[in-house]
Amino acid sequence: MVLCICFTTHSAYAAEVTPENATKILRERCYRCHGGAAKEAGLDVLSLSNLIEQRGDSSSPSAFVVPGKPDESKLIRVLKGGEESYMPDEGSPEAKEMTQEEKDLLREWVAAGALFPEVKSRRFISETDILKAMRDYLLSIKADDRGNIRFYTFTHLHNNPDVSDLDLRYYRAALSKAINSLTKEREIILPIALPGTDESVYVIDLHRLGWDRRHLWESILGKYPYGLKFDFIRDETQKQLWKDVVQFSGAEVPYLRADWFVLTATQPPLYHQLLDIPETLMELEAELNLNILDNFLEGKVARSGYAKSGVSKQNRLLERHEAPGTPYFWISYDFLPRRAKGDLSRFPLGPQFEHNPFNNQAFDHDGGEVIWSLPNGMQAYMLVDGKGARIDAGPIDVVFDRSAVLGTPKIINGISCIYCHRNGMITDFRDELRQAETLGGAPRDHVLKIYPTDDAMQRVVKQDQELFLRSLEKVVGPFLKVGDDAKKLISEFPEPVGKVAEMYSRDLTARAMALELGVEKVEILQAKIDANRDLLRFGLGTMTQDPPGTLKREKWETQDGTSLMQDVASQLRMGLPYVPARSAGTP
Ligand code: HEC
Ligand code: HEC
Repeated sequence: MVLCICFTTHSAYAAEVTPENATKILRERCYRCHGGAAKEAGLDVLSLSNLIEQRGDSSSPSAFVVPGKPDESKLIRVLKGGEESYMPDEGSPEAKEMTQEEKDLLREWVAAGALFPEVKSRRFISETDILKAMRDYLLSIKADDRGNIRFYTFTHLHNNPDVSDLDLRYYRAALSKAINSLTKEREIILPIALPGTDESVYVIDLHRLGWDRRHLWESILGKYPYGLKFDFIRDETQKQLWKDVVQFSGAEVPYLRADWFVLTATQPPLYHQLLDIPETLMELEAELNLNILDNFLEGKVARSGYAKSGVSKQNRLLERHEAPGTPYFWISYDFLPRRAKGDLSRFPLGPQFEHNPFNNQAFDHDGGEVIWSLPNGMQAYMLVDGKGARIDAGPIDVVFDRSAVLGTPKIINGISCIYCHRNGMITDFRDELRQAETLGGAPRDHVLKIYPTDDAMQRVVKQDQELFLRSLEKVVGPFLKVGDDAKKLISEFPEPVGKVAEMYSRDLTARAMALELGVEKVEILQAKIDANRDLLRFGLGTMTQDPPGTLKREKWETQDGTSLMQDVASQLRMGLPYVPARSAGTP
C-alpha cells in the first residue's frame, strides 16, 4: 500500500479548483437569480450551453464564459473587484457571503477551461427495451392482477444528458408525491422501479390506489397528447411486445409519461376526479362527518383573523376543525376588495346564516380555500366560492400567487396548493381579532371562545404540519435523500411537483424532441425532418438550423384531434396516434 500525504500550495482553507467546487460556488452565490426559474440577464449559471453561447452581433461577439479566457468572460469580469465589479448583486446575501477565494476559484476554473462535473453517462433505453421490461413484469405476476398494472415512464428524460441525475430524482419524487396526493387509501404507496429500466419506468397498481373505479385510467388517457399505438409498425419485435403488454394489461395505452401525468393529474378536472372531490362544501362536510356551522355555534372551532396575508390583499380568516373523517380540516374565508361586511375586526362572527345569533357581527365572504388530511397523511385541497360551490381556480381579486411560479398568478386547485403548501401547513400567521376590543357582551365572549391565543393556535398548526411532514418523508424521502443529500431534512428540499412544472414548461430543444419521439440521435431526426415536406410544413424547420431552434411545449401538445407530437410520430411511421373515444371517461 502506498501512503500519500499530499501538500499543496493552497492555504488550508482554499478549495481545490475542480468542476464540482466551481459549480458549487455558482449554485450558492449566483443560482438564486441566475438559474432555474430565475434567469436575470438571460444567464443560467448551471447550464454550460447557456454560459458559452455567443451573444451580441458578429462584430463583437461575447459570451458569459470563454473557456480558457477569464478576462473575456463576462461572468468573471462582473465579479466584485473585477473589471466591471457589480456581481453578486449589491445588498444580496450572496454579495455579503461570497469570499475572495471563491472569486479566485471561479477565475482559475474558467482559465482551466470551465469544465463541468462529468455526468456519468446513462445508457440509452429504447421503446423496445421498456416494452420488454413491461411484458416480463406482467408475465411475472398473477394473471388476475395484470389488468390493474400501469406504467409511468421517465425514459425520455433518462435518455437526455441535459437532464441531470439530480433532476431525475426530483421527477421521481414528484411522481410519488402526486400519486400519494391523489389516493384515499390509508397506506403510502411508492411507485416501484421496473427492473431492467435503470429506474426510468415505474409500476403502479390501479386497484391499490383505488383508481380502478369509473374508468379513471381512460379519463387520464382522454387528456394525453402523447399516446401512440404500435400495432402497425415495421419493427416486428416492438410490435409483438406492444401487443402483449396491451393484451395483458387490458389497457388501450398501458403507460404514460410521468412528467406529463404529474402536471395534469394535479390540476382540475383530473385532480377532482381522481380524488373524488365533491362539487360543494356541504357534500365534503358530509363525507368527513363535519358540520362547520354547528361547530361554530358550539364554539368548537379555532380561528385566526389577520389583515396581512401571503395570498390575499384583503383581510383573511382561517378556521380549523376536527372531525371523525379527518385529523384536521382548515378553511379560509376570503374577501373581495371593498366588500361591505368584509372587515373582520367589526364582523368577526360570520358567516351569516339563518340561526347565527351573531348575524349583526357576521362577515359576508366571497370564497374559501380548504385543506384536509388524506388517510395517508398527505393533503387534499378544495377551492370554493362564497356559496360553497367548488371552483377550479381562485379569482385573482380574491386570492393570487404573487410569485406566479406556475406561469400564472391564478391559484389553481391542486397543483398551486401542493406547491406553496410544500410543508403542509403554513405557520406564519398571527391572529389580530382576539385582542381587538371592538365588540362587547355575548359577541365578545364568543370571540374569546373561538379565537384562541397565538400560542394555542401555533401549537395546533405545528402539530398538523408534523403529521404531514411525517408522511411526506415516506413519500419523497426514498427518492430525494440520496448520496450527499441523505442527511438533509425533508423540508429543506425544493418542492418536487413545482420543480417538475418548471422543467416541463421549458421549450423543447431538438435533442429533447428527438428523445420524446424515441429517436436516439438528434441528427437522425434532423435528417428526417429535412427529407420530409410535411414535417417542414408543421414548422419543424427551425429544428434543423445551426444552432437548432426550440419549440414551445404548448405547441408540441396542442391537440386538433391529434397533437403535433402524434402527427410527427405518425409521419415518421413510428406509431399511430392514440385518439381517445370522445365520450371516454366523461363522468
Ligand atoms: C440577488 C440577485 C443576483 C445575484 C445573487 C447575482 N446576480 Fe448577476 N445579475 C442580477 C441582475 C438583476 C442582473 C441584471 C441587471 C443588471 O445588469 O444589473 C444581473 C446581471 C448579471 C450579468 C449580466 C451582465 C451583463 O452586462 O450582461 C452577469 C454576467 C451576472 N449577473 C453574473 C453574476 C454572477 C457570476 C453571480 C454570482 C457570483 C451573480 N451574477 C449573482 C442579479 C443577481
Ligand atoms: C402563493 C402561495 C399559496 C398558494 C398557491 C396557496 N396557499 Fe394556502 N396559504 C398560503 C400562505 C402564505 C398561508 C398562510 C396564511 C396567509 O398568509 O394568509 C396559507 C394558508 C392557507 C390555509 C390555512 C392553513 C395554513 O396552512 O396556514 C388554508 C386552508 C389554505 N392556505 C388553503 C389553500 C388551498 C386550498 C390552496 C390551493 C387552492 C392554497 N392554499 C394555495 C400560501 C398559498
